[in-house]
Amino acid sequence: MAPDPYIIAIDGPSASGKSTNARLIARALGCAYVDTGAMYRTLAWYCLRQGVPADDAAAVAATCRDWPARLACVDGHVRLLVEGYFPEKEIRTAEVSALVPRIAAVPQVRDWMKSHQRDCTRFGNLVMEGRDIGTVIFPETPLKFYLDAAAEVRQARREADGVQDNLAERDQRDRQRPVAPLAIAPDAILINNAGQTPQQTSERILSEIRRIRALQPSAS
Ligand code: DC
Repeated sequence: MAPDPYIIAIDGPSASGKSTNARLIARALGCAYVDTGAMYRTLAWYCLRQGVPADDAAAVAATCRDWPARLACVDGHVRLLVEGYFPEKEIRTAEVSALVPRIAAVPQVRDWMKSHQRDCTRFGNLVMEGRDIGTVIFPETPLKFYLDAAAEVRQARREADGVQDNLAERDQRDRQRPVAPLAIAPDAILINNAGQTPQQTSERILSEIRRIRALQPSAS
């Protein structure tokens, strides 16, 4: 089997099932789960609270450099705590969803996130979900997955959850930004999960993980 800690990278657009599947896989394998979207959302929420305009890249960069945030792993979930607080509900508002792609396009923010996301290996084996995990954060991991479904299918999932979110606009910004855009790593396993249950998708991912890890050189 491959050396530890190992990283399972799960990327894809909004509402592609990343969070549901990443949680199922983390639970099945006993890994720590990292939702990197929540990290960007936490910074967007903090900027909003501090009155920092999301369009002012220099101000966002300065805020990110100085904010009182630290990583903690609570019940297997890695979180960014701001002065000890995780704004779990606040980061899911439509206001934060609308701002976050602008915050996430600032190069200094991406550098800060990259170093903190790579630092998550101190919590052990990881399932990390996001937009650039397989391409930029852990390009060296052999365990890369890209989940997708047609835009209408993803929009319907958000509506079924009762969440107000302009997916098409967010996806376009995430795909078109110059730094670390949403992209499929050349060696990622692409899974279109339209019409699949989370159990079916996560079983498929788990069987691919077993297959790939069995091919890796042993740690000993
Ligand atoms: O996964 P999510 O919808 O919670 O992500 C919120 C936003 O954060 C999304 O619009 C794009 C951005 N993001 C990113 O740029 N890179 C990541 N690794 C994760 C999220």
